[in-house]
Amino acid sequence: MIVTQLEFDGFRNLETGMITPDPGVNIFYGDNAQGKTNLLEATWLFTGGKSFRGSRDFETVCFGKERARLGLEFTAFGRSQRAEIEIQKRRKAWLGGIPLESPAKLAGNFCAVVFFPAHLSLIKDGAEGRRRFIDTACCQIRPGYVKILSSFSRALAQRNALLRNIKQNPGLSRGGSQLAAWNERLASLGAQVFAARAGYVRRLIPAAGQIYGGISGGEELTISYKSSAGEQDITPQQAYSNLLALLKDNQNADLAAGFTTAGPHRDDLEIMIGGKSARVFGSQGQQRSAVLALKLAEASLLKNATGEQPVALLDDVLSELDTARQDYILNHIKGWQVFITGCDPNPALRMAGGRVYKVSNGRVTG
Ligand SMILES: Nc1ncnc2c1ncn2[C@@H]1O[C@H](COP(=O)(O)OP(=O)(O)OP(=O)(O)O)[C@@H](O)[C@H]1O
Ligand SMILES: [Mg+2]
Repeated sequence: MIVTQLEFDGFRNLETGMITPDPGVNIFYGDNAQGKTNLLEATWLFTGGKSFRGSRDFETVCFGKERARLGLEFTAFGRSQRAEIEIQKRRKAWLGGIPLESPAKLAGNFCAVVFFPAHLSLIKDGAEGRRRFIDTACCQIRPGYVKILSSFSRALAQRNALLRNIKQNPGLSRGGSQLAAWNERLASLGAQVFAARAGYVRRLIPAAGQIYGGISGGEELTISYKSSAGEQDITPQQAYSNLLALLKDNQNADLAAGFTTAGPHRDDLEIMIGGKSARVFGSQGQQRSAVLALKLAEASLLKNATGEQPVALLDDVLSELDTARQDYILNHIKGWQVFITGCDPNPALRMAGGRVYKVSNGRVTG
């Protein structure tokens, strides 16, 4: 997967323009608040995902402008392709000039992995970010997973609405049979969510462990999937039975709470360094290295699944890492197309060769 041209017009603070990146390393440097991350964000949107900053679509349109337009030319699966995105209130996307039903349909055509400093929350914060990491990765590998996940979320919302309704109107007599039906639906969709996540984590464990060992010079990173459906190696059928039993067992507690207290929407990944919780005991550099190992492992799983090496978008990735760790990472990504940002084009980056762009007040030159 190689980006050959990126065009931007009316996107955040970027001055209308385009770049024709190197097939290897591309360095974007400049002072703070100049537009470096905005460039990576513009590229990322072509994966079909939402902004990695969690911004809403209209927030990415330049202040005072009506719309933003982005264009991407890339080679993938042996051919050149062109995709376009227009953002007004919402995003719209085209592939090869043909309008797509939704921008999410870009998934599987253009692939990238992104490291953004806020992703340190993957280690530091609660389980939600870790679930989102696995779910987003599964969506890029299996575009059909988006549908399973949204059906699961809808079923969960509907079961919760029913629980709230029964809680507020205790006289509702038909609640019981309706709940039984939602238990089954949620267990069935939950088992599919479980199976996709567990399958992904099984492949992630050795890949991330190996990369982390390399970055850290031999420390051990261990990951395990903690699911209310059961141990990570059970079958989907067992996961279904376990979830159904769990929902039934918890029904009274759920009725008292007015929401579903346990299920795949509470799943988590346990991440340990040298047998100790990375969240509680990891240093800044260890936490950053662990997130990077997860992201680089995500890239290699995506490559195994699609046959294409995803583009690596690395935002301010080298800060807080000693030179040995920086060198390992830069060596690891040799041969990939990389967009990497930083305040100064540091010596390690310069050694990596490729193209260097300066970003200044939204203007990209190089
Ligand atoms: N919708 C928008 N319209 C215009 N400017 C915007 C919009 N959204 C964000 N900006 C501006 O874009 C500027 C650059 O943001 P960006 O995050 O890309 O900087 P950066 O070069 O990555 O800086 P840092 O080194 O601090 O991470 C910010 O000053 C921000 O105010
Ligand atoms: Mg930035």
